[in-house]
Amino acid sequence: MAETYDVLLRGGTVVNHDGAGGRDIGIRDGRIAALGAIRPEAAGEVVDCTGLHILPGVIDSQVHFREPGLEQKEDLETGSRAAVLGGVTAVFEMPNTRPLTTSAEALADKVRRARHRMFCDFAFYIGATGENVDDIPDLERLEGSAGIKVFMGASTGDLLVEDEPTLDRIIAAIRRRAAFHAEDEARLRERAGLRRPGDAASHPVWRDEIAALIATQRLVRLAEKHGRRIHVLHVSTAEEMAFLAEHKEWASVEVTPHHLTLVSPDCYQRLGTYAQMNPPVRDERHRQAIWAAISAGVVDVLGSDHAPHTRDEKDHPYPQSHSGMTGVQTLVPIMLDHVNAGRLSLERLVDLTSHGPQRLFGIRNKGRIAVGYDGDLTVVDLKRRQTIDDSMIASRCGWTPYHGVSVTGWPVGALVRGLRVMWEGEVSGAAGGEPVRFYEGV
Ligand code: DOR
Repeated sequence: MAETYDVLLRGGTVVNHDGAGGRDIGIRDGRIAALGAIRPEAAGEVVDCTGLHILPGVIDSQVHFREPGLEQKEDLETGSRAAVLGGVTAVFEMPNTRPLTTSAEALADKVRRARHRMFCDFAFYIGATGENVDDIPDLERLEGSAGIKVFMGASTGDLLVEDEPTLDRIIAAIRRRAAFHAEDEARLRERAGLRRPGDAASHPVWRDEIAALIATQRLVRLAEKHGRRIHVLHVSTAEEMAFLAEHKEWASVEVTPHHLTLVSPDCYQRLGTYAQMNPPVRDERHRQAIWAAISAGVVDVLGSDHAPHTRDEKDHPYPQSHSGMTGVQTLVPIMLDHVNAGRLSLERLVDLTSHGPQRLFGIRNKGRIAVGYDGDLTVVDLKRRQTIDDSMIASRCGWTPYHGVSVTGWPVGALVRGLRVMWEGEVSGAAGGEPVRFYEGV
């Protein structure tokens, strides 16, 4: 009997590890079952993808969805709605919620809340502290665990590991790749007086490139000492990129769309505290260095660092204003616009958003369009010109730093394990989110 499929994506250009080319994709029982020319009669549902590009599902390996405890900003349902509207099919969520995600119970609670309430698949980082260091090997392996996250510099929430002996114990304890927010807390404290009241442009003066470099250098030294893998989140400086290029043996590198797109002083003049983020958006020299590191292959993944705060929280006068901006819904359109402008290839974008996370974090069955892999797909219209608007933003806080920005390239569909969760700006189907699974976890 001829093969049959639940869903068939027909006529699209598939962008994958072997380049870009016309292929149909047949999905059965949530997994990719065939690639090539497939007869439409063989499928229950046929999705016409003529003129569209099909990418492996985009994995955003850094978001803050705020539940439990900070639901005035976001929750798992609203955050995941924003994700799939932006073409993102899986997210790794951060532990600075209330309570903090620092125990097996707090993780299990998040997984319980997320399962079949989120529209995309998910994993949650566990925050490491001086108190839970002995539990790290167990915490890393639990269902839904993305591994360990450490804040070396204070940001939103109370998760802070600023002393080297504790950091040393944490790095000695990790077995999986762990993620780090690298800014040196002692230097931030020393320089706090450089913040100019009411002037968000002083944010990168306070949290300068040296604060980031010191922390990243300490991290790499300890990773090398213990022979561990570390992931440096949201790298924002030319100095760190030069250093990390020499230490790829230990360190993987994430960059964000906002550090590639926004630039100081312009962003602070236009957006004020709405451009305030940790680590900060810096000047053109740094932005150029981040782009050069993408071209050179030093950068492994893109994460949005989606960090929503309410308008009220952003409207406090600097420096009482909260640091963070939305990003999960705009990652794909902003990056497709960069692709169209010739700043990176579509294949390199796929490397950063799918192959990269799969390789670094050892994700099972995702990040690749291949037979046997999950039917996670991001469908994009490379030619569509659209203006980003606050009114489109599904995050509870309802704003984006890209309001009014026109881009070329737009996500038109998202499939998660074969289920069409978003098409043409409509979220459809039930929320079927499940934990992402890892080779070194569950
Ligand atoms: O600007 C930031 N906001 N940087 C972080 O590291 C945390 C985030 C948040 O949770 O608001």
